[in-house]
Amino acid sequence: MSLWRSKSSKVAMLEKVPLFKGLSRRQLDLIARLADELEVPAGERLAKAGATGHELFIIVDGQASVTTRNGRKVRLGPGEFFGEMSLLDGGPRSATVEAATPMRLLVLGHREFWSLLNTTPPLTGKIMRALSQRVRDAEAAVTA
Ligand code: CMP
Repeated sequence: MSLWRSKSSKVAMLEKVPLFKGLSRRQLDLIARLADELEVPAGERLAKAGATGHELFIIVDGQASVTTRNGRKVRLGPGEFFGEMSLLDGGPRSATVEAATPMRLLVLGHREFWSLLNTTPPLTGKIMRALSQRVRDAEAAVTA
C-alpha cells in the first residue's frame, strides 16, 4: 500500500468523487484534511469478515470485490464505499473486501469518519441511503 497524491491536489480530486457531489468547498477542505489516500494492487485484501474494522474506504478508481458471509459476491466501483458497517456499530467486518483491479482509495479512520458524519449532514444522508439499499439488496438475495 502507498500514498498516491500530494495534499495540494486533493480537493480537485475530491470534487470528482460522486459521493462528495454537492458538498461545499469548506466541506471538501475538511474531507481533504481528514482522508488519507491509498493505492493498492489487484488482490490486496482491504477488509476481512469477522475482523475488527478501523477504516472506511471510498473508491476513487478501480473495482472492489465484496464477498459476504453467505458467499454472495458484490462489485463496488468508483464513488462507492465500504467499511462503514463496523464503524457505525462497532461490530466485526460483515464481509471480506478485496481489490479486484488496481485501486485508488480514500481512507477515513474511525475518529475522522465520525467527525465527518457529525459535521457534514449531506454526506451522512448519502451513506445512510447506500446502507439502506445494501440491506434491501441483501434481503432480496436471501429471499430470491
Ligand atoms: P464492514 O462490515 O465494516 O466491512 C465489510 C464491508 O463490506 C461492509 O462494512 C460494507 O461496506 C460492505 N458490504 C457488506 N455487505 C455488502 C453488500 N451486501 N453490498 C455491498 N457492500 C457490502
